[in-house]
Amino acid sequence: MSRVPNESVDLMVTSPPYPMIEMWDEIFSLQNPTIKEALTTQNGNRAYELMNQELDKVWKEVYRVLKSGGFACINIGNATRKIGEEFKLYCSHSRILEYCLKLGFSALPEILWRKQTNAPNKFMGSGMLPAGAYVTLEHEYIMILRKGNKRNFITDSQKLRRQKSAYFWEERNNWFSDIWEDLKGTRQGNIDNQIRERTGAYPFELAYRIINMLSLKEDTVLDPFLGTGTTIMAAMATGRNSIGFEIDPNLVSHIASRFQNIVPVSNELITNRIEKHLSFVKERTSTHGAPGYSSKVYGFPVMTGQEVEIEFSELTKIVEKDNIYEIEYKTPNQPGSSPTQPAQPTQTPPPQPTPTPPTPTTKETPPPQQQPPINRRKPTLTLEDFKGQ
Ligand SMILES: C[S@@+](CC[C@H](N)C(=O)[O-])C[C@H]1O[C@@H](n2cnc3c(N)ncnc32)[C@H](O)[C@@H]1O
Repeated sequence: MSRVPNESVDLMVTSPPYPMIEMWDEIFSLQNPTIKEALTTQNGNRAYELMNQELDKVWKEVYRVLKSGGFACINIGNATRKIGEEFKLYCSHSRILEYCLKLGFSALPEILWRKQTNAPNKFMGSGMLPAGAYVTLEHEYIMILRKGNKRNFITDSQKLRRQKSAYFWEERNNWFSDIWEDLKGTRQGNIDNQIRERTGAYPFELAYRIINMLSLKEDTVLDPFLGTGTTIMAAMATGRNSIGFEIDPNLVSHIASRFQNIVPVSNELITNRIEKHLSFVKERTSTHGAPGYSSKVYGFPVMTGQEVEIEFSELTKIVEKDNIYEIEYKTPNQPGSSPTQPAQPTQTPPPQPTPTPPTPTTKETPPPQQQPPINRRKPTLTLEDFKGQ
């Protein structure tokens, strides 16, 4: 990450390898062989601490590259494990939080991602006999940390970009809840189930929500533990620039193959969001009367004045060169609306992961301004279809 400039990133979204979850023992031990030694000699506390020290290096870099007012969102689960005769919880959530606070981050209200399971082995310990059973581990955390104080939006163009990045009122009510129970079954983004299991990939919807909630179109999103590239896909789908690092070169082809379908996958998501909104409006109108505002771009009703500029980033094309992916977006061409100004490609050279083998670095760049407006092309998805509904 050393090639990512200081204070250049608006949002970091990631899920690291989880300390003391067995599937990550090897990758941690490759980075520090003492970890393997500690596990072999059944020194669980030492292995856990050394694993976290590997992660600490990354959190430190994340703090450096984040802009003031930028967010770091870390999805992490605690681990239960028996080492020798000792069974206990390794609480990575609190270990990471403690370190990040020392770095200077401020903790903000966090999300409990409830991953309810029907697995027969979810109840651990002595069953129906007391004083030897453990409660289930069916949740993970999505920590939300901020560097510095609240981000300011000063100029008119900053304010407009923020308004175009708005989400719907009813999405706010769901997304900004501290317990997420509805992520299961909303996995999208074209990922093979086996790869997902093997890499601990999080649902596309998780990254998609966080990016919409905590960043603006044209912002830069970073994922230092890219895995199958879910964060980058979500950034592409929301009109954000993005950068990712991954230590495992075997994942390169999986990441690339997921990106092949980014255009239809993203556009279907936009259609789904709009359809869901229209159903909400219909229902709401029948119980409370019609909402008092309407979207400038699409014409449909919205609940508040904050949503009137809402604009979805509809994709038209993806082009890859040397692990840099460029996305072209269609801008809605509606009277009374100002199309989103495309982000200028950043001058940052594509960062290379160190000290890892060649890995994908992904940057998404909307088309430069001098190109013919993308919205003159035949759209892949006609958002105008929704106008007036
Ligand atoms: C939990 S997975 C991330 C899954 C990802 N969120 C997704 O949806 O596919 C963690 C990833 O971090 C990678 N990793 C571990 N240590 C790393 C390091 N030091 N630098 C970069 N990547 C690393 C692992 O290879 C693994 O793919």
